[in-house]
Amino acid sequence: MVARIHSLGGYIYEYKKSVANPEVFWAQIAENFHWRKRFTKVLEWNFSNPDIKWFIDGKLNITENIFEKNMYTHADQLAIIWEPNDPNEEHIQLTYMQLFREVNKFANTLKRLNVRKGDRVAIYMPMVPELTIAMLACARIGAVHSVVFAGFSAQSLSERINDAQAKVLLTADGGFRGNKITPLKQIADEALESSPCVETVVVLKRTKTEVNMEVGRDIWWHTAINGQSDECPAEVMDAEDELFILYTSGSTGKPKGIVHTVGGYMVFTAYTFKNVFQYNAGDVYFCTADIGWITGHSYIVYGPLLNGAQSVMFEGVPTWPDAGRFWDIVDKFNVNQFYTAPTAIRSLLAQGMEFVNGKKLTSLKVLGTVGEPINEEAWHWYHDHIGKSRCPIVDTWWQTETGGVMISPMAGITPTKPSFATMPLPGIQPVIVDNEGRELTGNSVEGNLCIRFPWPGMARTIWGDHERFRETYFGSFKNLYFTGDGAKRDEDGYYRILGRVDDVINVSGHRLGTAEIENAINAHPLVNESAVVGYPHEIKGQGIYAFVVCGELSTGGEEGIQKSIRIAVEKIIGPFARPDIIQLVPGLPKTRSGKIMRRILRKVAEGDASNLGDITTLLDEDIVEKIIDGALVEVKR
Ligand code: PRX
Repeated sequence: MVARIHSLGGYIYEYKKSVANPEVFWAQIAENFHWRKRFTKVLEWNFSNPDIKWFIDGKLNITENIFEKNMYTHADQLAIIWEPNDPNEEHIQLTYMQLFREVNKFANTLKRLNVRKGDRVAIYMPMVPELTIAMLACARIGAVHSVVFAGFSAQSLSERINDAQAKVLLTADGGFRGNKITPLKQIADEALESSPCVETVVVLKRTKTEVNMEVGRDIWWHTAINGQSDECPAEVMDAEDELFILYTSGSTGKPKGIVHTVGGYMVFTAYTFKNVFQYNAGDVYFCTADIGWITGHSYIVYGPLLNGAQSVMFEGVPTWPDAGRFWDIVDKFNVNQFYTAPTAIRSLLAQGMEFVNGKKLTSLKVLGTVGEPINEEAWHWYHDHIGKSRCPIVDTWWQTETGGVMISPMAGITPTKPSFATMPLPGIQPVIVDNEGRELTGNSVEGNLCIRFPWPGMARTIWGDHERFRETYFGSFKNLYFTGDGAKRDEDGYYRILGRVDDVINVSGHRLGTAEIENAINAHPLVNESAVVGYPHEIKGQGIYAFVVCGELSTGGEEGIQKSIRIAVEKIIGPFARPDIIQLVPGLPKTRSGKIMRRILRKVAEGDASNLGDITTLLDEDIVEKIIDGALVEVKR
């Protein structure tokens, strides 16, 4: 069992130890796991030509650490408590033993489908227990899973499948989300028209939506698992073998396949889960994220299960059948730790107290947030009305690339401050640098957030593009991992995350590259060029504002083109990337060298053009006035 810190003094002690001698610190934590062969060296690293290896020569399987290691104590303990979309449908509970059997069965199924160690398996599924089973089955046999969020379009799915060269695709006939059904198999079929690498598609029956099954390629899940043994020996993996790829957005158009490896990710997610949430045996923990994103990977699947936790998994959405759904689930299963995104909190807050009043919420001990900065109003509402002023809030800052939580309070231990992620976890060494890379020491400073020393859960590369990995994370500031976020360290040494300083935006907790959205808009036949920026949005955190230059308008006029651009973005990326505001402009503010001055567009989108700074380098200064005149938000001059 991973040790748990119990007091602020304990945190300070562990933190100092972790900085003074990181290798001894992490080795002690790693000793708690089951290694087929113990590692011979803890760490080798280089940030300039990035090469990071943890637990060198160690051999293990992460699923043995979830199952076999804990079977004496946990066999009959619940592992997954699954709440379906429709509250009238029966929920499902799986004990560790039951989950183990299902994982083995599916692992054997994958083997029979010719999946071998190192092969990539793409997963495009709704939030059902089979999704977790599929991921763990891959890990069991050493296949690399690549989960694609089920809100992505056919084109996005296809790009991700092709980049990873996945051999098998796991999907479902459809997915329930509130009162809607997403036709997943139909979308997958469209994706596969341009993804010839996929040899086999396994289709789970969930919504009973009519689907087309291609003979020789497609097989039903229930048919595939039929007759498979529920015992499957674990593949022995090297600590640095890949566990999964997860695509995330960057500042250029093409999504990045972030690669995490077995040993370090295991140690890091297990340690951070236990300490941040202060999980105790028997507690019920509920993370509302979708497994299609990193939060679901690390804190619905791996982190909790490595700790023998009882993890609630929810298929639906927070506002269906009504905005009290999360609280109903909390009461139904007596949830102790609840983890969600600020955007969900803001949208529930906006619906009013009628959906909270009457709920007990007495089981709650810890509340968490993740994915974007939480504003003070949302923090207080969450604290006062959900936590009834007795539950600490852990505002956890981290990223797909970091694998697990980096800066966060430990529940009940670290004194909190609204909208501050507070302090780094043991083993994490944040630094703030100015734009020239000079470290800003001491307190009350603000700048670019970097990390000075490796941690076990960090990404090792971008799939198929190590140079991009180097450039993106280690190319900006010498010998530092650059997060892409701005941060402030206040007078007490507390960290507050200020948001991205690059061209990445965070919309309802979904991370999107502005270039990615621009590419989708530019694919529209009537569009010449476009520029996308984020702007403050009351519920979503950031909204998407697109400035679009069109050659000519279609018959539908301005409205017609705005509508068809939205449809195009939906089709190319997915509905969650649909621009909130589309302003047709006569041109974009460009410098003489042809670079778009995004700072001006950001200001306009924020509704404040009173201080645009130096615009004399613009090719055409008049364009700024025209853009402000035509703005679709009120702009202060
Ligand atoms: O900008 C930061 C924001 O989300 C980004 C990472 O997005 P993604 O890789 O999708 O992972 C989200 C879930 C871990 C970060 O660069 N972010 C994440 N957590 C916080 C946050 N911003 C402020 N406060 C947070 N707690």
